[in-house]
Amino acid sequence: MAHVGFENVLGVVERTEVSRPVGRIVALEDGRIIVGGLSRQAAMGDLVKITTPTGHARGEIVRIEGDRLTVLPDSPLDGLRIGLRVALLGAAVLAPDDSWIGRVIDPYGLPLDNRPLLPGTATRRLTGQPINPTERRGLGARLETGLCVFNTILPIIRGQRIGLFAGSGVGKSTILAMLAQRITADVVVIGMVGERGREVREFVERVLGPSGMARTVIVAATSDRSPGLRRRCASAAMTVAEHFRDQGRQVLLLADSITRFADAHREIALASGEAPSLRGYPPTTASAITTLCERAGPGAGAMGDITAIFTVLVAGSDMEEPVADILRGVLDGHVVLDRAIAERGRFPAIDVLRSVSRALPLAATPTENDQIAQARRLLGAYERAELMIQSGLYSSGSDPVIDAAILAWPKLDAFVAQRETEGIGASFEKLARCFPAQHKSAAAVNREADRLPVT
Ligand SMILES: Nc1ncnc2c1ncn2[C@@H]1O[C@H](COP(=O)(O)OP(=O)(O)OP(=O)(O)O)[C@@H](O)[C@H]1O
Ligand SMILES: [Mg+2]
Repeated sequence: MAHVGFENVLGVVERTEVSRPVGRIVALEDGRIIVGGLSRQAAMGDLVKITTPTGHARGEIVRIEGDRLTVLPDSPLDGLRIGLRVALLGAAVLAPDDSWIGRVIDPYGLPLDNRPLLPGTATRRLTGQPINPTERRGLGARLETGLCVFNTILPIIRGQRIGLFAGSGVGKSTILAMLAQRITADVVVIGMVGERGREVREFVERVLGPSGMARTVIVAATSDRSPGLRRRCASAAMTVAEHFRDQGRQVLLLADSITRFADAHREIALASGEAPSLRGYPPTTASAITTLCERAGPGAGAMGDITAIFTVLVAGSDMEEPVADILRGVLDGHVVLDRAIAERGRFPAIDVLRSVSRALPLAATPTENDQIAQARRLLGAYERAELMIQSGLYSSGSDPVIDAAILAWPKLDAFVAQRETEGIGASFEKLARCFPAQHKSAAAVNREADRLPVT
């Protein structure tokens, strides 16, 4: 475990402000708190602390209008009344620290695992500081992932941002868990946004265990928390990832799920008076999602990179849904899971033909690209002919490509589910063994033809 020093304690003392601007609750309406007396000092997104007869409540400023602030509380309104004192805390910040590795925290930076946690020496705003795009590096080297399919056909490279799209219960969280355990990274940051409460504990104890947690920080706001906390959870996870990236470390950020982040944003935006337009989502949804995702990616100068994987819930596999649609435009790759594949018991239920890594072709050698193309061609040929094959209408020998696809399909299908402990080269060797012996890839044939002397 990392060392927590005297400077951490000094940092806390230095940041403790003795006096804060104070206002009062003037109205409570539809789950919102209207505050008077702070609008000259407050900024959008600032946090406030309300002193109640039994303790404190917190909230986020979502609208400033004349002398009135609209605050969305982080907890239910029960017990609040007109006249209570509201202190302005300022912008939402976190002070991440090395000692946070191995811990589960909430978006305030408070521990959720009942052990003391000290903030670091410097605060960072949850809204982040974007890197100048002209200074960012290009995408980096290929990462070992522990799964054959991600080592080969759908490579993940340093600084890449990928979406994992699927309907409910098709295996998104399980894939994230596998990658959290096995992918090459110095630090893993997991944002559990609006997911089930039991999943957090399961992740820590059963999925990651002590060895996985030794390089992981989990930031969680489960589905029962307020929309403000759920939305800030994604930004908080990104802020923690940026802290480690700025120290030159390679960070893997896993966010489960971006759909819940978008839903929380929708609740907040509607409460602040924005009108829904983008098929039920307010217009600011697109910029909220893209701003968050753009913070991941390659670093600049001596920084590390943030490789990010975001899960997206797509109802009924509708990839045109607003959140899925916005994300696909921002990301450098998408992995689509298919319920039909999960139903026949092949996990991970990745639909290879519908999934794309934009790291290709650069991330692989010409030979590897050939193999990837061949795998896709065979899977594609099988899929096109599947109905005929299964209904007995296809007679063997009528099409050599379909014949090869029928031979290769069971092996390729098993390959997609296979784990890998021996590295990327070994995964490509396994992929090569899926192809029928005499079936040469068209690209290989073309390259051989290129080498022939012109007569
Ligand atoms: N690799 C796997 N091996 C075996 N079973 C799996 C695998 N992946 C998923 N499953 C099965 O699918 C179920 C749902 O998986 P998971 O919770 O990962 O889905 P999800 O897409 O995250 O769901 P939700 O949308 O509800 O969050 C699991 O409880 C398990 O039964
Ligand atoms: Mg899930």
